[in-house]
Amino acid sequence: MNTSFIQISDCHIDDEINVMGVDSTANLKRILSDIKNREFNALLISGDLTHNGTLNSYNKLQKSLTTIEADIHVMPGNHDDKDNLSSAFNTELQRTFQLDDWQIITLDSVQINKVSGLLSKDQLHFLDGAISNSNAKYTVVCLHHPVVSMNSDWDDKLSLENPEDLFEVVEQYSQVKAILWGHAHQSEAFDYNGVSLFSCPSTAIQFNGPDNIGYNHYTLRSNGKIECKTHWL
Ligand SMILES: [Fe+2]
Repeated sequence: MNTSFIQISDCHIDDEINVMGVDSTANLKRILSDIKNREFNALLISGDLTHNGTLNSYNKLQKSLTTIEADIHVMPGNHDDKDNLSSAFNTELQRTFQLDDWQIITLDSVQINKVSGLLSKDQLHFLDGAISNSNAKYTVVCLHHPVVSMNSDWDDKLSLENPEDLFEVVEQYSQVKAILWGHAHQSEAFDYNGVSLFSCPSTAIQFNGPDNIGYNHYTLRSNGKIECKTHWL
């Protein structure tokens, strides 16, 4: 049996209407009404849910998300306030959930007052334990920061500072099939030694075009294959 989930990213909801030159709340609403037409089993939001981390902006976001019936899983981005995010969604920021044979692991790669990311020893230990203690056949890892060069105008120095530490864990487990992120506001796909890598576009605005907003829809196959389709609006 196949299962699927949707990833949205970098919604940048704020107390102000105008964020980075766009109405980020209106853009998110357009995305969510498109998502409603799809079949999926979970919604993953990979950071920068808000622009300034205010409790009010998380409440605003949650009002928009009431149209989603599937489970929602969140992780922090550099624009988020971790305490406000975790209390608004009543959740730990690193956790795991399972869809059929697939385990999805969300990590916290955010450093206080820094745009670039880092996976702490605790996060790497959590990742290692989550994979080794799971009986899921396949694993997907998700974090806010890109783990390889984006091959674009994006400044790679703003990505994950220690991808080698992540790959050192991932390489021990052949069940890891994909790593997903946001942050770069860019849709892209890469491969790392057979592990699929997917970058999710922003629901608010792309940094280097196209002039669209979008999201990623993943199909998880029972044979361990993962497919990603980016939907643009
Ligand atoms: Fe970000």
